[in-house]
Amino acid sequence: MKGILLAGGSGSRLYPLTKTISKQLLPVYDKPMIYYPLSTLMQFEIKDILIISTPHDTPNIEKLLGDGSQIGMHISYKIQQEPRGIAQAFTIGSDFINNENVCLILGDNIFHMDTEFNIFKSEVKKNMDNRATIFAYEVSDPQRFGVVEFDKNYKAISIEEKPKNPKSKFASVGLYFYPSDVVKFAQGLKPSARGEYEITDLNNIYLNQGRMSVVPMHRGNVWLDAGTPNSLMDSGNFVKMIEERQGIKIACIEEIAYNRGFINDEQMSDLIAHMTPGQYRSYLELVLNEKQRNR
Ligand code: DAU
Repeated sequence: MKGILLAGGSGSRLYPLTKTISKQLLPVYDKPMIYYPLSTLMQFEIKDILIISTPHDTPNIEKLLGDGSQIGMHISYKIQQEPRGIAQAFTIGSDFINNENVCLILGDNIFHMDTEFNIFKSEVKKNMDNRATIFAYEVSDPQRFGVVEFDKNYKAISIEEKPKNPKSKFASVGLYFYPSDVVKFAQGLKPSARGEYEITDLNNIYLNQGRMSVVPMHRGNVWLDAGTPNSLMDSGNFVKMIEERQGIKIACIEEIAYNRGFINDEQMSDLIAHMTPGQYRSYLELVLNEKQRNR
């Protein structure tokens, strides 16, 4: 399975923060925002990733993450000239997808999943090749999102993009899994009234074909869309609270790579040795020492 991380857009809701810096490079407590969606892809064991961003921001993101080999991944980059919609990720990334299944994650979406994560993983695995899988999360302000309506058996019956009168409180989150035919459907989309290739139009194609699973994410999971001043602040506070309380880090990509076996002891030591001294490096030293001690 391939992964696409969409990290472009105009960042208008965060202006002037985004005047010189890409939204996805802004800090969410102790890490750049992009670490969070990247870590979610890693948790789904996706190692081959295409990052799509703007002409201005792509070089900076590349400076931060390089080709991914330091964390046992393969990261490549493509530019979206104008923010023409989320579904454009699949036409820009068509060569990269190359007839494989693909996961798309939005660069400002932060997930902290509980034990249900294993259920999500097996649902995605079960559907792979044939059906799309997306997730829905109950929110208080559904009109800001794609909204999923369920029947009484939790079967999705409609998805509407930013409706004025939402039919439910379930927002469709920015994490989507598709079979390889997503490229063909994305190529056939027409821009919406606001001039964008809408992810919701793509999802409705699968829904209408009876090839879509919408999985509700229950309360123990946390989903944040860090794209507004309030939600950016909330996300930072959430990460700080968990990290301080539990003495662990969320979305520490080096730790995830090491614990999941993307890199071995030697590669982890090497990575740490090349890191600027500070609390992040000290944390990784602890992770390495602890794992070696517990063997
Ligand atoms: O966060 C989940 C929501 O994301 C979904 O519920 C909606 O169905 C979906 O349309 C989307 O809504 P947003 O209003 O949050 O989308 P936004 O325009 O903020 O774009 C989301 C991310 O994708 C953001 O990090 C910027 C990036 N993006 C967006 C567009 C339109 C691009 O890189 N290129 C684009 O052309």
